[in-house]
Amino acid sequence: MGANSLTITDNRTGKEYEVAIEDGTIRAMDLRKIKVSDDDFGLMTYDPAFMNTASCKSRITFIDGDLGILRYRGYPIEQLAEQSTYLEVAYLLLHGELPNEGQLKDWKWDITHHTFLHESIKMVMDGFNYDAHPMGMLIGTIGALSTFYPEAKDIFDEECRKKQIYRLLAKVATIAAFSYRHRKGLPYAYPDNDLSYEGNFLNMMFKTTEVKYEPNPVLERALNVLFILHADHEQNCSTNAMRSIGSAQTDPYSAIAGAAAALYGPLHGGANEAVLRMLREIGSIQRVPEYIKRVKEGEFRLMGFGHRVYKNYDPRATIIKKVAYEVFEVTGKDPMLDIALELERIALEDEYFVKRKLYPNVDFYSGIIYKAMRFPVEMFPVLFAIPRASGWIAQWQEMLLDPEQKIARPRQIYLGADERDYVPMEKREKTSAVSA
Ligand code: ACO
Repeated sequence: MGANSLTITDNRTGKEYEVAIEDGTIRAMDLRKIKVSDDDFGLMTYDPAFMNTASCKSRITFIDGDLGILRYRGYPIEQLAEQSTYLEVAYLLLHGELPNEGQLKDWKWDITHHTFLHESIKMVMDGFNYDAHPMGMLIGTIGALSTFYPEAKDIFDEECRKKQIYRLLAKVATIAAFSYRHRKGLPYAYPDNDLSYEGNFLNMMFKTTEVKYEPNPVLERALNVLFILHADHEQNCSTNAMRSIGSAQTDPYSAIAGAAAALYGPLHGGANEAVLRMLREIGSIQRVPEYIKRVKEGEFRLMGFGHRVYKNYDPRATIIKKVAYEVFEVTGKDPMLDIALELERIALEDEYFVKRKLYPNVDFYSGIIYKAMRFPVEMFPVLFAIPRASGWIAQWQEMLLDPEQKIARPRQIYLGADERDYVPMEKREKTSAVSA
């Protein structure tokens, strides 16, 4: 097999096996031929939480966690954040190339003209309790979209897929804004097709009595940058959920509802909400050292710090920190920024964080910006989900068109009871301990 291979000696049998190395990986299925006997199942790998397992080949997003590099389709995130727009980035993620002028115009038109919701979807949203969490409303309503567009099940039809992509990218912003209005008891503000994607979102969120809502250009641009930074992040928890659900050939609305549910968790997209709550709890710069001490004693984690992949400064956090200052020029500085800066300063010098390579991640500053822009904390994971929809769809589409992919179905190591006979009720112990 040559140099690009691995020779494995099975010490149980003394047999030697040669396994091919391709793109720095070996195929787990190649290990199945390693057996102690003919009726042995063969060797498997054990990798809880996918710490060292590639589940797909992808051409969408590249991350080098040690060097702090993030690129979409080869373009550095810094250049995209500086020069592009979120809708252009969504096109890039989905199509692989930047659009030309005509393609971008058509793309914007198609998405802008799918922003309205069916009146019955609005009624679905009306049914939520007055204090429902907007992320719960988003998850539920996106799932409900599948009942309005049953043709979306035709996932291998390219034209059909395109239509669902326009709808999803457009309607996720409308549903997000409506979830906020519902919770506030405000009338829904309908989409304004004259505005940019981000400008229209601000309009649907904050329009009150004015005839025409005019977004502040600095805040509109800040939201655009935040949306670009959150658009994709290769095989993270929610994207893995999207691919896994999609691998069962589920329609994209149901799959995105599942991906959004994964994003909701405090260890993932819910972290920016958790950061704000943490900063509120700390309350003042003076209390930062005490808080860090409690983190080091293992009482809780420092939210917005650490990342499975980045063992260096998250490049998105660097860009966001800059955007924060631009936003504060308009909104005035939030005192929480000083607490965040002090936390960051102490943590970056502290042996505990240095040793574990724990740096601020994308969520550390995004919450402070969102708060300054008047978004309530409950909206933070929703603000993450809006742009991430483009990454989820790009990854879902890549998975569908990949001939190597099948329904996702991991293996397990069974450690439960061996075969045993059913025990009739009268023979069971009266106070037996039951484990879940
Ligand atoms: N605060 C304090 N200690 C931490 C933190 C933290 N935020 N994150 C990790 N550690 C410590 C762990 O306790 C562990 O220490 P140990 O070796 O002494 O046991 C070590 O660092 C490694 O931690 P793991 O849990 O193995 O790291 P993992 O890669 O599984 O976790 C995660 C990554 C979930 C992001 C974690 O760093 C965390 O919980 N961070 C806080 C939540 C957060 O900010 N999430 C947002 C992630 S970015 C995103 O989803 C957009």
